[in-house]
Amino acid sequence: MFATANAAALKTTDKATLPKDLFSAIEDLKKDLNAVVLAHYYQEPDIQDIADYIGDSLGLSQQAASTKADVIVFAGVHFMAETAKILNPDKLVLLPDLEAGCSLADSCPPDTFGKFKSAHPDHLVISYINCTAEIKALSDIICTSSNAVKIVNQLPPEQKIIFAPDRNLGRYVMEQTGRDMVLWQGSCIVHETFSEKKMLRLKMEHPDAEIVAHPECEAGVLRHANYIGSTTALLKYVGGAECDRFIVATEPGIIHQMEKQTPKKHFIPAPPEANCACNECPYMRLNTLEKLYLAMKNKTPEITILPEIRAKALAPIQRMLEMSV
Ligand code: 13P
Ligand code: SF4
Repeated sequence: MFATANAAALKTTDKATLPKDLFSAIEDLKKDLNAVVLAHYYQEPDIQDIADYIGDSLGLSQQAASTKADVIVFAGVHFMAETAKILNPDKLVLLPDLEAGCSLADSCPPDTFGKFKSAHPDHLVISYINCTAEIKALSDIICTSSNAVKIVNQLPPEQKIIFAPDRNLGRYVMEQTGRDMVLWQGSCIVHETFSEKKMLRLKMEHPDAEIVAHPECEAGVLRHANYIGSTTALLKYVGGAECDRFIVATEPGIIHQMEKQTPKKHFIPAPPEANCACNECPYMRLNTLEKLYLAMKNKTPEITILPEIRAKALAPIQRMLEMSV
């Protein structure tokens, strides 16, 4: 629904100038601009297919940190493009739709979080990368869903920790590490929409299916999962597992890569609580191939960050990259 409404929202002048073959026009622009297109697995299939690199949040940050391109076109959401800009202040970083935000990042406003942090002065702040640059600037270490457990395990056992903003990932990390942490109570509207009851009904219809889930899901969903991991980890797992049917409890955009990787296996999206498409991330789906092309052609919308915020947000991201190798 969002993608269609949004494509319709393109200016008439923009629509008139769209080339017939968007794929080859984007390939030409990549060469002209010396641009790289980085895409998250939750992007629509066409965007995934035109991308130079598709990955999870950690892989995308690692690519952004090492790219030699002059222009980074980020097919993902705002906090991801912002991370790329923090790592590359002198490069042009484009996001096809600046409205592509994140409910989880929105659930942690910097003012309130600053007071929360002040109330726990002896705690180290670990923030999930799904947060704004301002929250990153208030953090000591950034993590993603693929390295959160690894990072927490590297800290001395007596170190007190605040984990923000995702309460579900935080709880999962506490279970995996046996550590107590103070959790900020944020969450993702997509991963909290899955219905445990409907998923179990689906499992009864397909008893041979394994359930794979992202750690942003609620405990009720995670407790039935055969495997829990980041999007990249889920993709690797379903590729290597003997099972050939999976119920996928994360944003269904990833199923495009799962099917490409193993066309003979079957992937069933986990159902949302309501009768809606709420398991699709409305922010990720704001980006379209048309908008990606126009962003490259017009070199806008561009990501900008205040230098003082950028300087403070860089150190915790670099710490994450060092602790992930
Ligand atoms: P990963 O890319 O780390 O798997 O996280 C998924 C997500 O929700 C991104 O917004
Ligand atoms: Fe944010 Fe959730 Fe969308 Fe990921 S899936 S970008 S956490 S709203």
